[in-house]
Amino acid sequence: SLVRHYKFSVVSKNITKLCATKSIVTVDGQFPGPTLYAREDDTVIVRVTNHVTDNVTIHWHGVRQFLTGWSDGPAYITQCPIQPGQSYIYNFTLTGQRGTLLWHAHISWLRATIHGAIVILPKRGIPYPFPKPDKEKIIILAEWWKADVEAVINQATQSGLPPNVSDTHTINGHPGPVPGCSSQGYTLHVESGKTYLLRIINAAVNDELFFKIAGHNLTIVEVDASYVKPFQIDTIFISPGQTTNALLTANQGIGKYIITLSPFMDAPVGLDNLTNYATLRYKGTPTNPPTILTSVPAQNATPITYSFIDSLRSLNSPQYPTKVPLTIDHSLFFTMGVGVNPCDTCVNGSKLVGDINNVSFVMPTIGLLQAYHYDISGVYTVDFPANPPIPFNYTGNSTSNLQTNNGTRLYRLSFNSTVQIVLQDTAVIAPENHPTHLHGFNFFVVGKGLGNFDKNKDPQKFNLVDPVERNTVAVPTGGWVAVRFKADNPGVWLLHCHLEVHTTWGLKMAFIVENGMGPNETLPPPPSDLPRC
Ligand code: C2O
Repeated sequence: SLVRHYKFSVVSKNITKLCATKSIVTVDGQFPGPTLYAREDDTVIVRVTNHVTDNVTIHWHGVRQFLTGWSDGPAYITQCPIQPGQSYIYNFTLTGQRGTLLWHAHISWLRATIHGAIVILPKRGIPYPFPKPDKEKIIILAEWWKADVEAVINQATQSGLPPNVSDTHTINGHPGPVPGCSSQGYTLHVESGKTYLLRIINAAVNDELFFKIAGHNLTIVEVDASYVKPFQIDTIFISPGQTTNALLTANQGIGKYIITLSPFMDAPVGLDNLTNYATLRYKGTPTNPPTILTSVPAQNATPITYSFIDSLRSLNSPQYPTKVPLTIDHSLFFTMGVGVNPCDTCVNGSKLVGDINNVSFVMPTIGLLQAYHYDISGVYTVDFPANPPIPFNYTGNSTSNLQTNNGTRLYRLSFNSTVQIVLQDTAVIAPENHPTHLHGFNFFVVGKGLGNFDKNKDPQKFNLVDPVERNTVAVPTGGWVAVRFKADNPGVWLLHCHLEVHTTWGLKMAFIVENGMGPNETLPPPPSDLPRC
C-alpha cells in the first residue's frame, strides 16, 4: 500500500451558471472539486489550507476513519473549524473499502460548493468482482442556487420557514441547457460496444434524485464503497451522501440519448420539480441526429425508489463476506422528524426544528471529540434517550410532541458492542424522507417497512444474510428502516439527516464509542495541528 499526498486550497472563485456570476467557496477553484484517487489500504494525507474568510472543515464521507476520528471533519464534532489563514492535515487509511465515496465541507452549507469524488480502486492485482469496464467516468450530481448559499440558510432560519429550493441541479457542474445562456448541458461521450463504470455521487444539499439514461439499462455493482449483487435497472435513486457504481454498455444504435436528473419528493412539502437534461452521445453520431427521449419519473414516484432500494443486496461472496451482527447489545428506537418551536425573532413567532427522539441537537462551541478526550465538563451530556419519551402514532396525523427539547446529548456505546437502530419517520408536521448518515461506520440495512415499526412482528422479516452495507440510508416517508453495526471504532460519531436543511434544524445526534483495552482499540491523541476554537 502507498501513501498518497494531496493539497487542498480553499479559495473563492467567480463562477457563471444560469446566466449569472457569483463568487463561491471552492477547493482549488474547481466546481466540483478535485478527485482523490487511492487503492484499498492506502493512506491518504490531505493538507487543507483555508484562504477564504469563512471557517471550513472537510469530511471524507463514508471513509471508516478507523482509529483516526480526528480526521473525520464535522465541525464542532471531531474538530474545531480551520480558521482563515490556517491549515490542517487530514490523515487516514482506506481500510477494507473499495468503490466510490465523496468528500465535502462539513460546516454550515458550504458543501453546496465544496465537494468532490473519492475513488478507491481495489488493491493492486485484485480484479473487480464484475466484468472489467473499458473506461470509468465520475458523475457528480449537485444543486445550484443563483443566490449566495449562506443567504439561503439565513432566510430559512430567520423566517422560520423552509429555505428556497435550488435553481438547478448540476451534473459535473453543468446545469441543463438554458435558452439564451451559453450552457450546453453535460455530455457523456461513449463508443459503441464499450462498457463504462459510472461512479455516481449525490452531492446535492437537499434533494434526493432520480438519474436515468434513455434506451439504456444500468447494472448496479456497488453502493457506498461496498459491492452488491449486480442487478439491472433503468432508473437510479440516490440520496444526498450516497454513491452508486453502475455499468453502462453502449449497446444501442449510434446516436444521441437524453439523460434526465430530477428530484424525488413524496412528502407534501416539496416544490422543487426542476429536471436537468443531459446527453449520452455515441462516437460517430452525425450532427443533428434524432434524439432518443425518456420519460421523467414523477416527483412523487415512490415505487421507483423502492424498486431500486429493494434490489440492493450485499455481494456476500467468500472474498467479500457480509458480517451482520446477529446478537444486539444496544437496541435503539429513534424517531426522526420536524417539529415547531417558539421563536421570538422569527416572522411567524415559531420556527421549524428537526429532532431525534424529541431532542433537537444543539451544536457545541468546541469539538465534542476534544471535550471527550480531555474530559472537559459542561460541553455535552450522555443521556441521549434510547427511545422516544412518549410513544405515539408516529406515522399518523399526530399533533402531539410538537415542541422539542434542545440539548447536546450523546449516547455512549462500549467498545465492540453491537447496535441496532430502528429509524422511524414521524408525521408530527408531515411525513418526510430522511436520508440518514452515520459517521465512522458502515451499517447493514436489515429491514424496512411502512407505518409504525412493530417490534414483535417486523424483526422476524429482517434480512441477516445479505443486507446491503452502506453509510447513508433513506428512511422512507411514513415508514422505518432498521440498521445494525458493531461499535468497533472509538471516537465521537455523528448521526444525521443528510438533507442539509434538516441537519441545520437539529435533526442529528452523536455517539461516543469508548476505547477498548487492546493495543489497536484506542483512539490515539490528536495531531498537534488540530485546529483550536
Ligand atoms: Cu456527508 Cu455528516 O456528512
